[in-house]
Amino acid sequence: NSTSSNYPNTATIDKNITLLPVIAGVNVYPEYIADGALIVDDVAGCIIDYGSSETILANYAEANNQAPVKIHDYRNKLIMPGFIDTHVHYPQIDMIAAYGEQLLDWLNNYTFVTEANFADPKIAHDTAQFFLNQLMANGTTSAMVFCTSHPQSAEAFFTESHRLNTRMITGNVLMDKNAPEHLCVPAEQSIQDTQNIINNWHGRGRQHVAITPRFAITSTPKQLQLAGELYASYDNVYLQTHLAENRDEMAFVRKLYPKHKGYLDVYEDMGLLGRYTTLAHGIYLETAEYERLRATGTQIAHCPTSNLFLGSGLFDLPKTLSYTSVSIATDVGAGTSLSMLVTLSEAYKVQQLQNNQLSAHQGLYQITLGNAQSLMLDDKIGNFMPNKEADFVVIDMAATPLLERRIAQTKTLEERLFVLMMLGDDRVIDETVIAGVSRYKKVATA
Ligand code: GUN
Ligand code: ZN
Repeated sequence: NSTSSNYPNTATIDKNITLLPVIAGVNVYPEYIADGALIVDDVAGCIIDYGSSETILANYAEANNQAPVKIHDYRNKLIMPGFIDTHVHYPQIDMIAAYGEQLLDWLNNYTFVTEANFADPKIAHDTAQFFLNQLMANGTTSAMVFCTSHPQSAEAFFTESHRLNTRMITGNVLMDKNAPEHLCVPAEQSIQDTQNIINNWHGRGRQHVAITPRFAITSTPKQLQLAGELYASYDNVYLQTHLAENRDEMAFVRKLYPKHKGYLDVYEDMGLLGRYTTLAHGIYLETAEYERLRATGTQIAHCPTSNLFLGSGLFDLPKTLSYTSVSIATDVGAGTSLSMLVTLSEAYKVQQLQNNQLSAHQGLYQITLGNAQSLMLDDKIGNFMPNKEADFVVIDMAATPLLERRIAQTKTLEERLFVLMMLGDDRVIDETVIAGVSRYKKVATA
């Protein structure tokens, strides 16, 4: 697919073009090119073409009349599309790995305590900056993110993301009951805060807004209803919340909403379901609820390290996939790693416990194009199709002595990718490129 018609007009080229030998584009089908090249327009920030380096270099030289290009040689490295995390809490980076509790006590004893700090815009900015750098150090280039209930926490996150030019989705968290008073914002005010954030950020550069009720327990019916009305008034504003994660949570929701058919029915009744909705977890669902997910086009974000860390339960991947789209996510700070590779390895183990398998092809597809599709962003990110945004990671498959030794024993690509999925983490990420601009480089160790 390296036709020269994809190349820009020679006369207009005065930009740096990046060439990358050795790529693996995770396409609609897994596609691996042993000696590949990726051509990036680093001014427009998009992919121009990819393919075998021989063809690409020859075609490019011809179309470009031998004009000089900047060549980055990543010999012996693997280039993949940037990873996408569909559910993560940036303020919780400060309380990741908090001991001893399951969901509801964990929220009360640790989470709400930390989230209170984000009333301070300086803490919000510093933490957003640290968090975004950590995402890139883990190869993650896009994410759907929770802030806190303070509008300044969302403002800080968008400001930092816009500066880095990362494609991100977030919004202020809606809570108006069953949480400390200083974290509760009355229904009308909280929705006005979200409206202001939409006006300011939705569609600005690479930023998108998500209406973000925390979960059924911490919102009044009024707040959920207003959230649903706001969601209905836009075509492409997102909505994110949590669903059916923990048994005590399930019982609490049943007590709060005795007349509803179940947890999902509360959200459906309030108008919160749809193609732009992401519900994290969905461990405890009835067949009728899976059917409503399908009917409304609502997707589930599976968060394996979180489900294991909080002892929430085992996610039924095959069953959920038979009804709707499933993305994969870290859910830090209940999740224990920002690495999508670590997350895949834990997802593999969660499926093993239920006698299902998750292949490396399926896993790596999911954290790139699959998650892009779940977030309705696959026209922009997720693989290396010409004109998509140039978000990619440079992976060192020999980053540690163990990886180098184990990879040397492999015979097939599938085997190598599985070893990467099981043993890889932030150490394998050599470089992360955002819209054609290198934003993270691993510090060389002696
Ligand atoms: N349910 C409601 N809030 C949260 C949260 O912050 N993390 C997780 N894992 N579940 C939640
Ligand atoms: Zn969460």
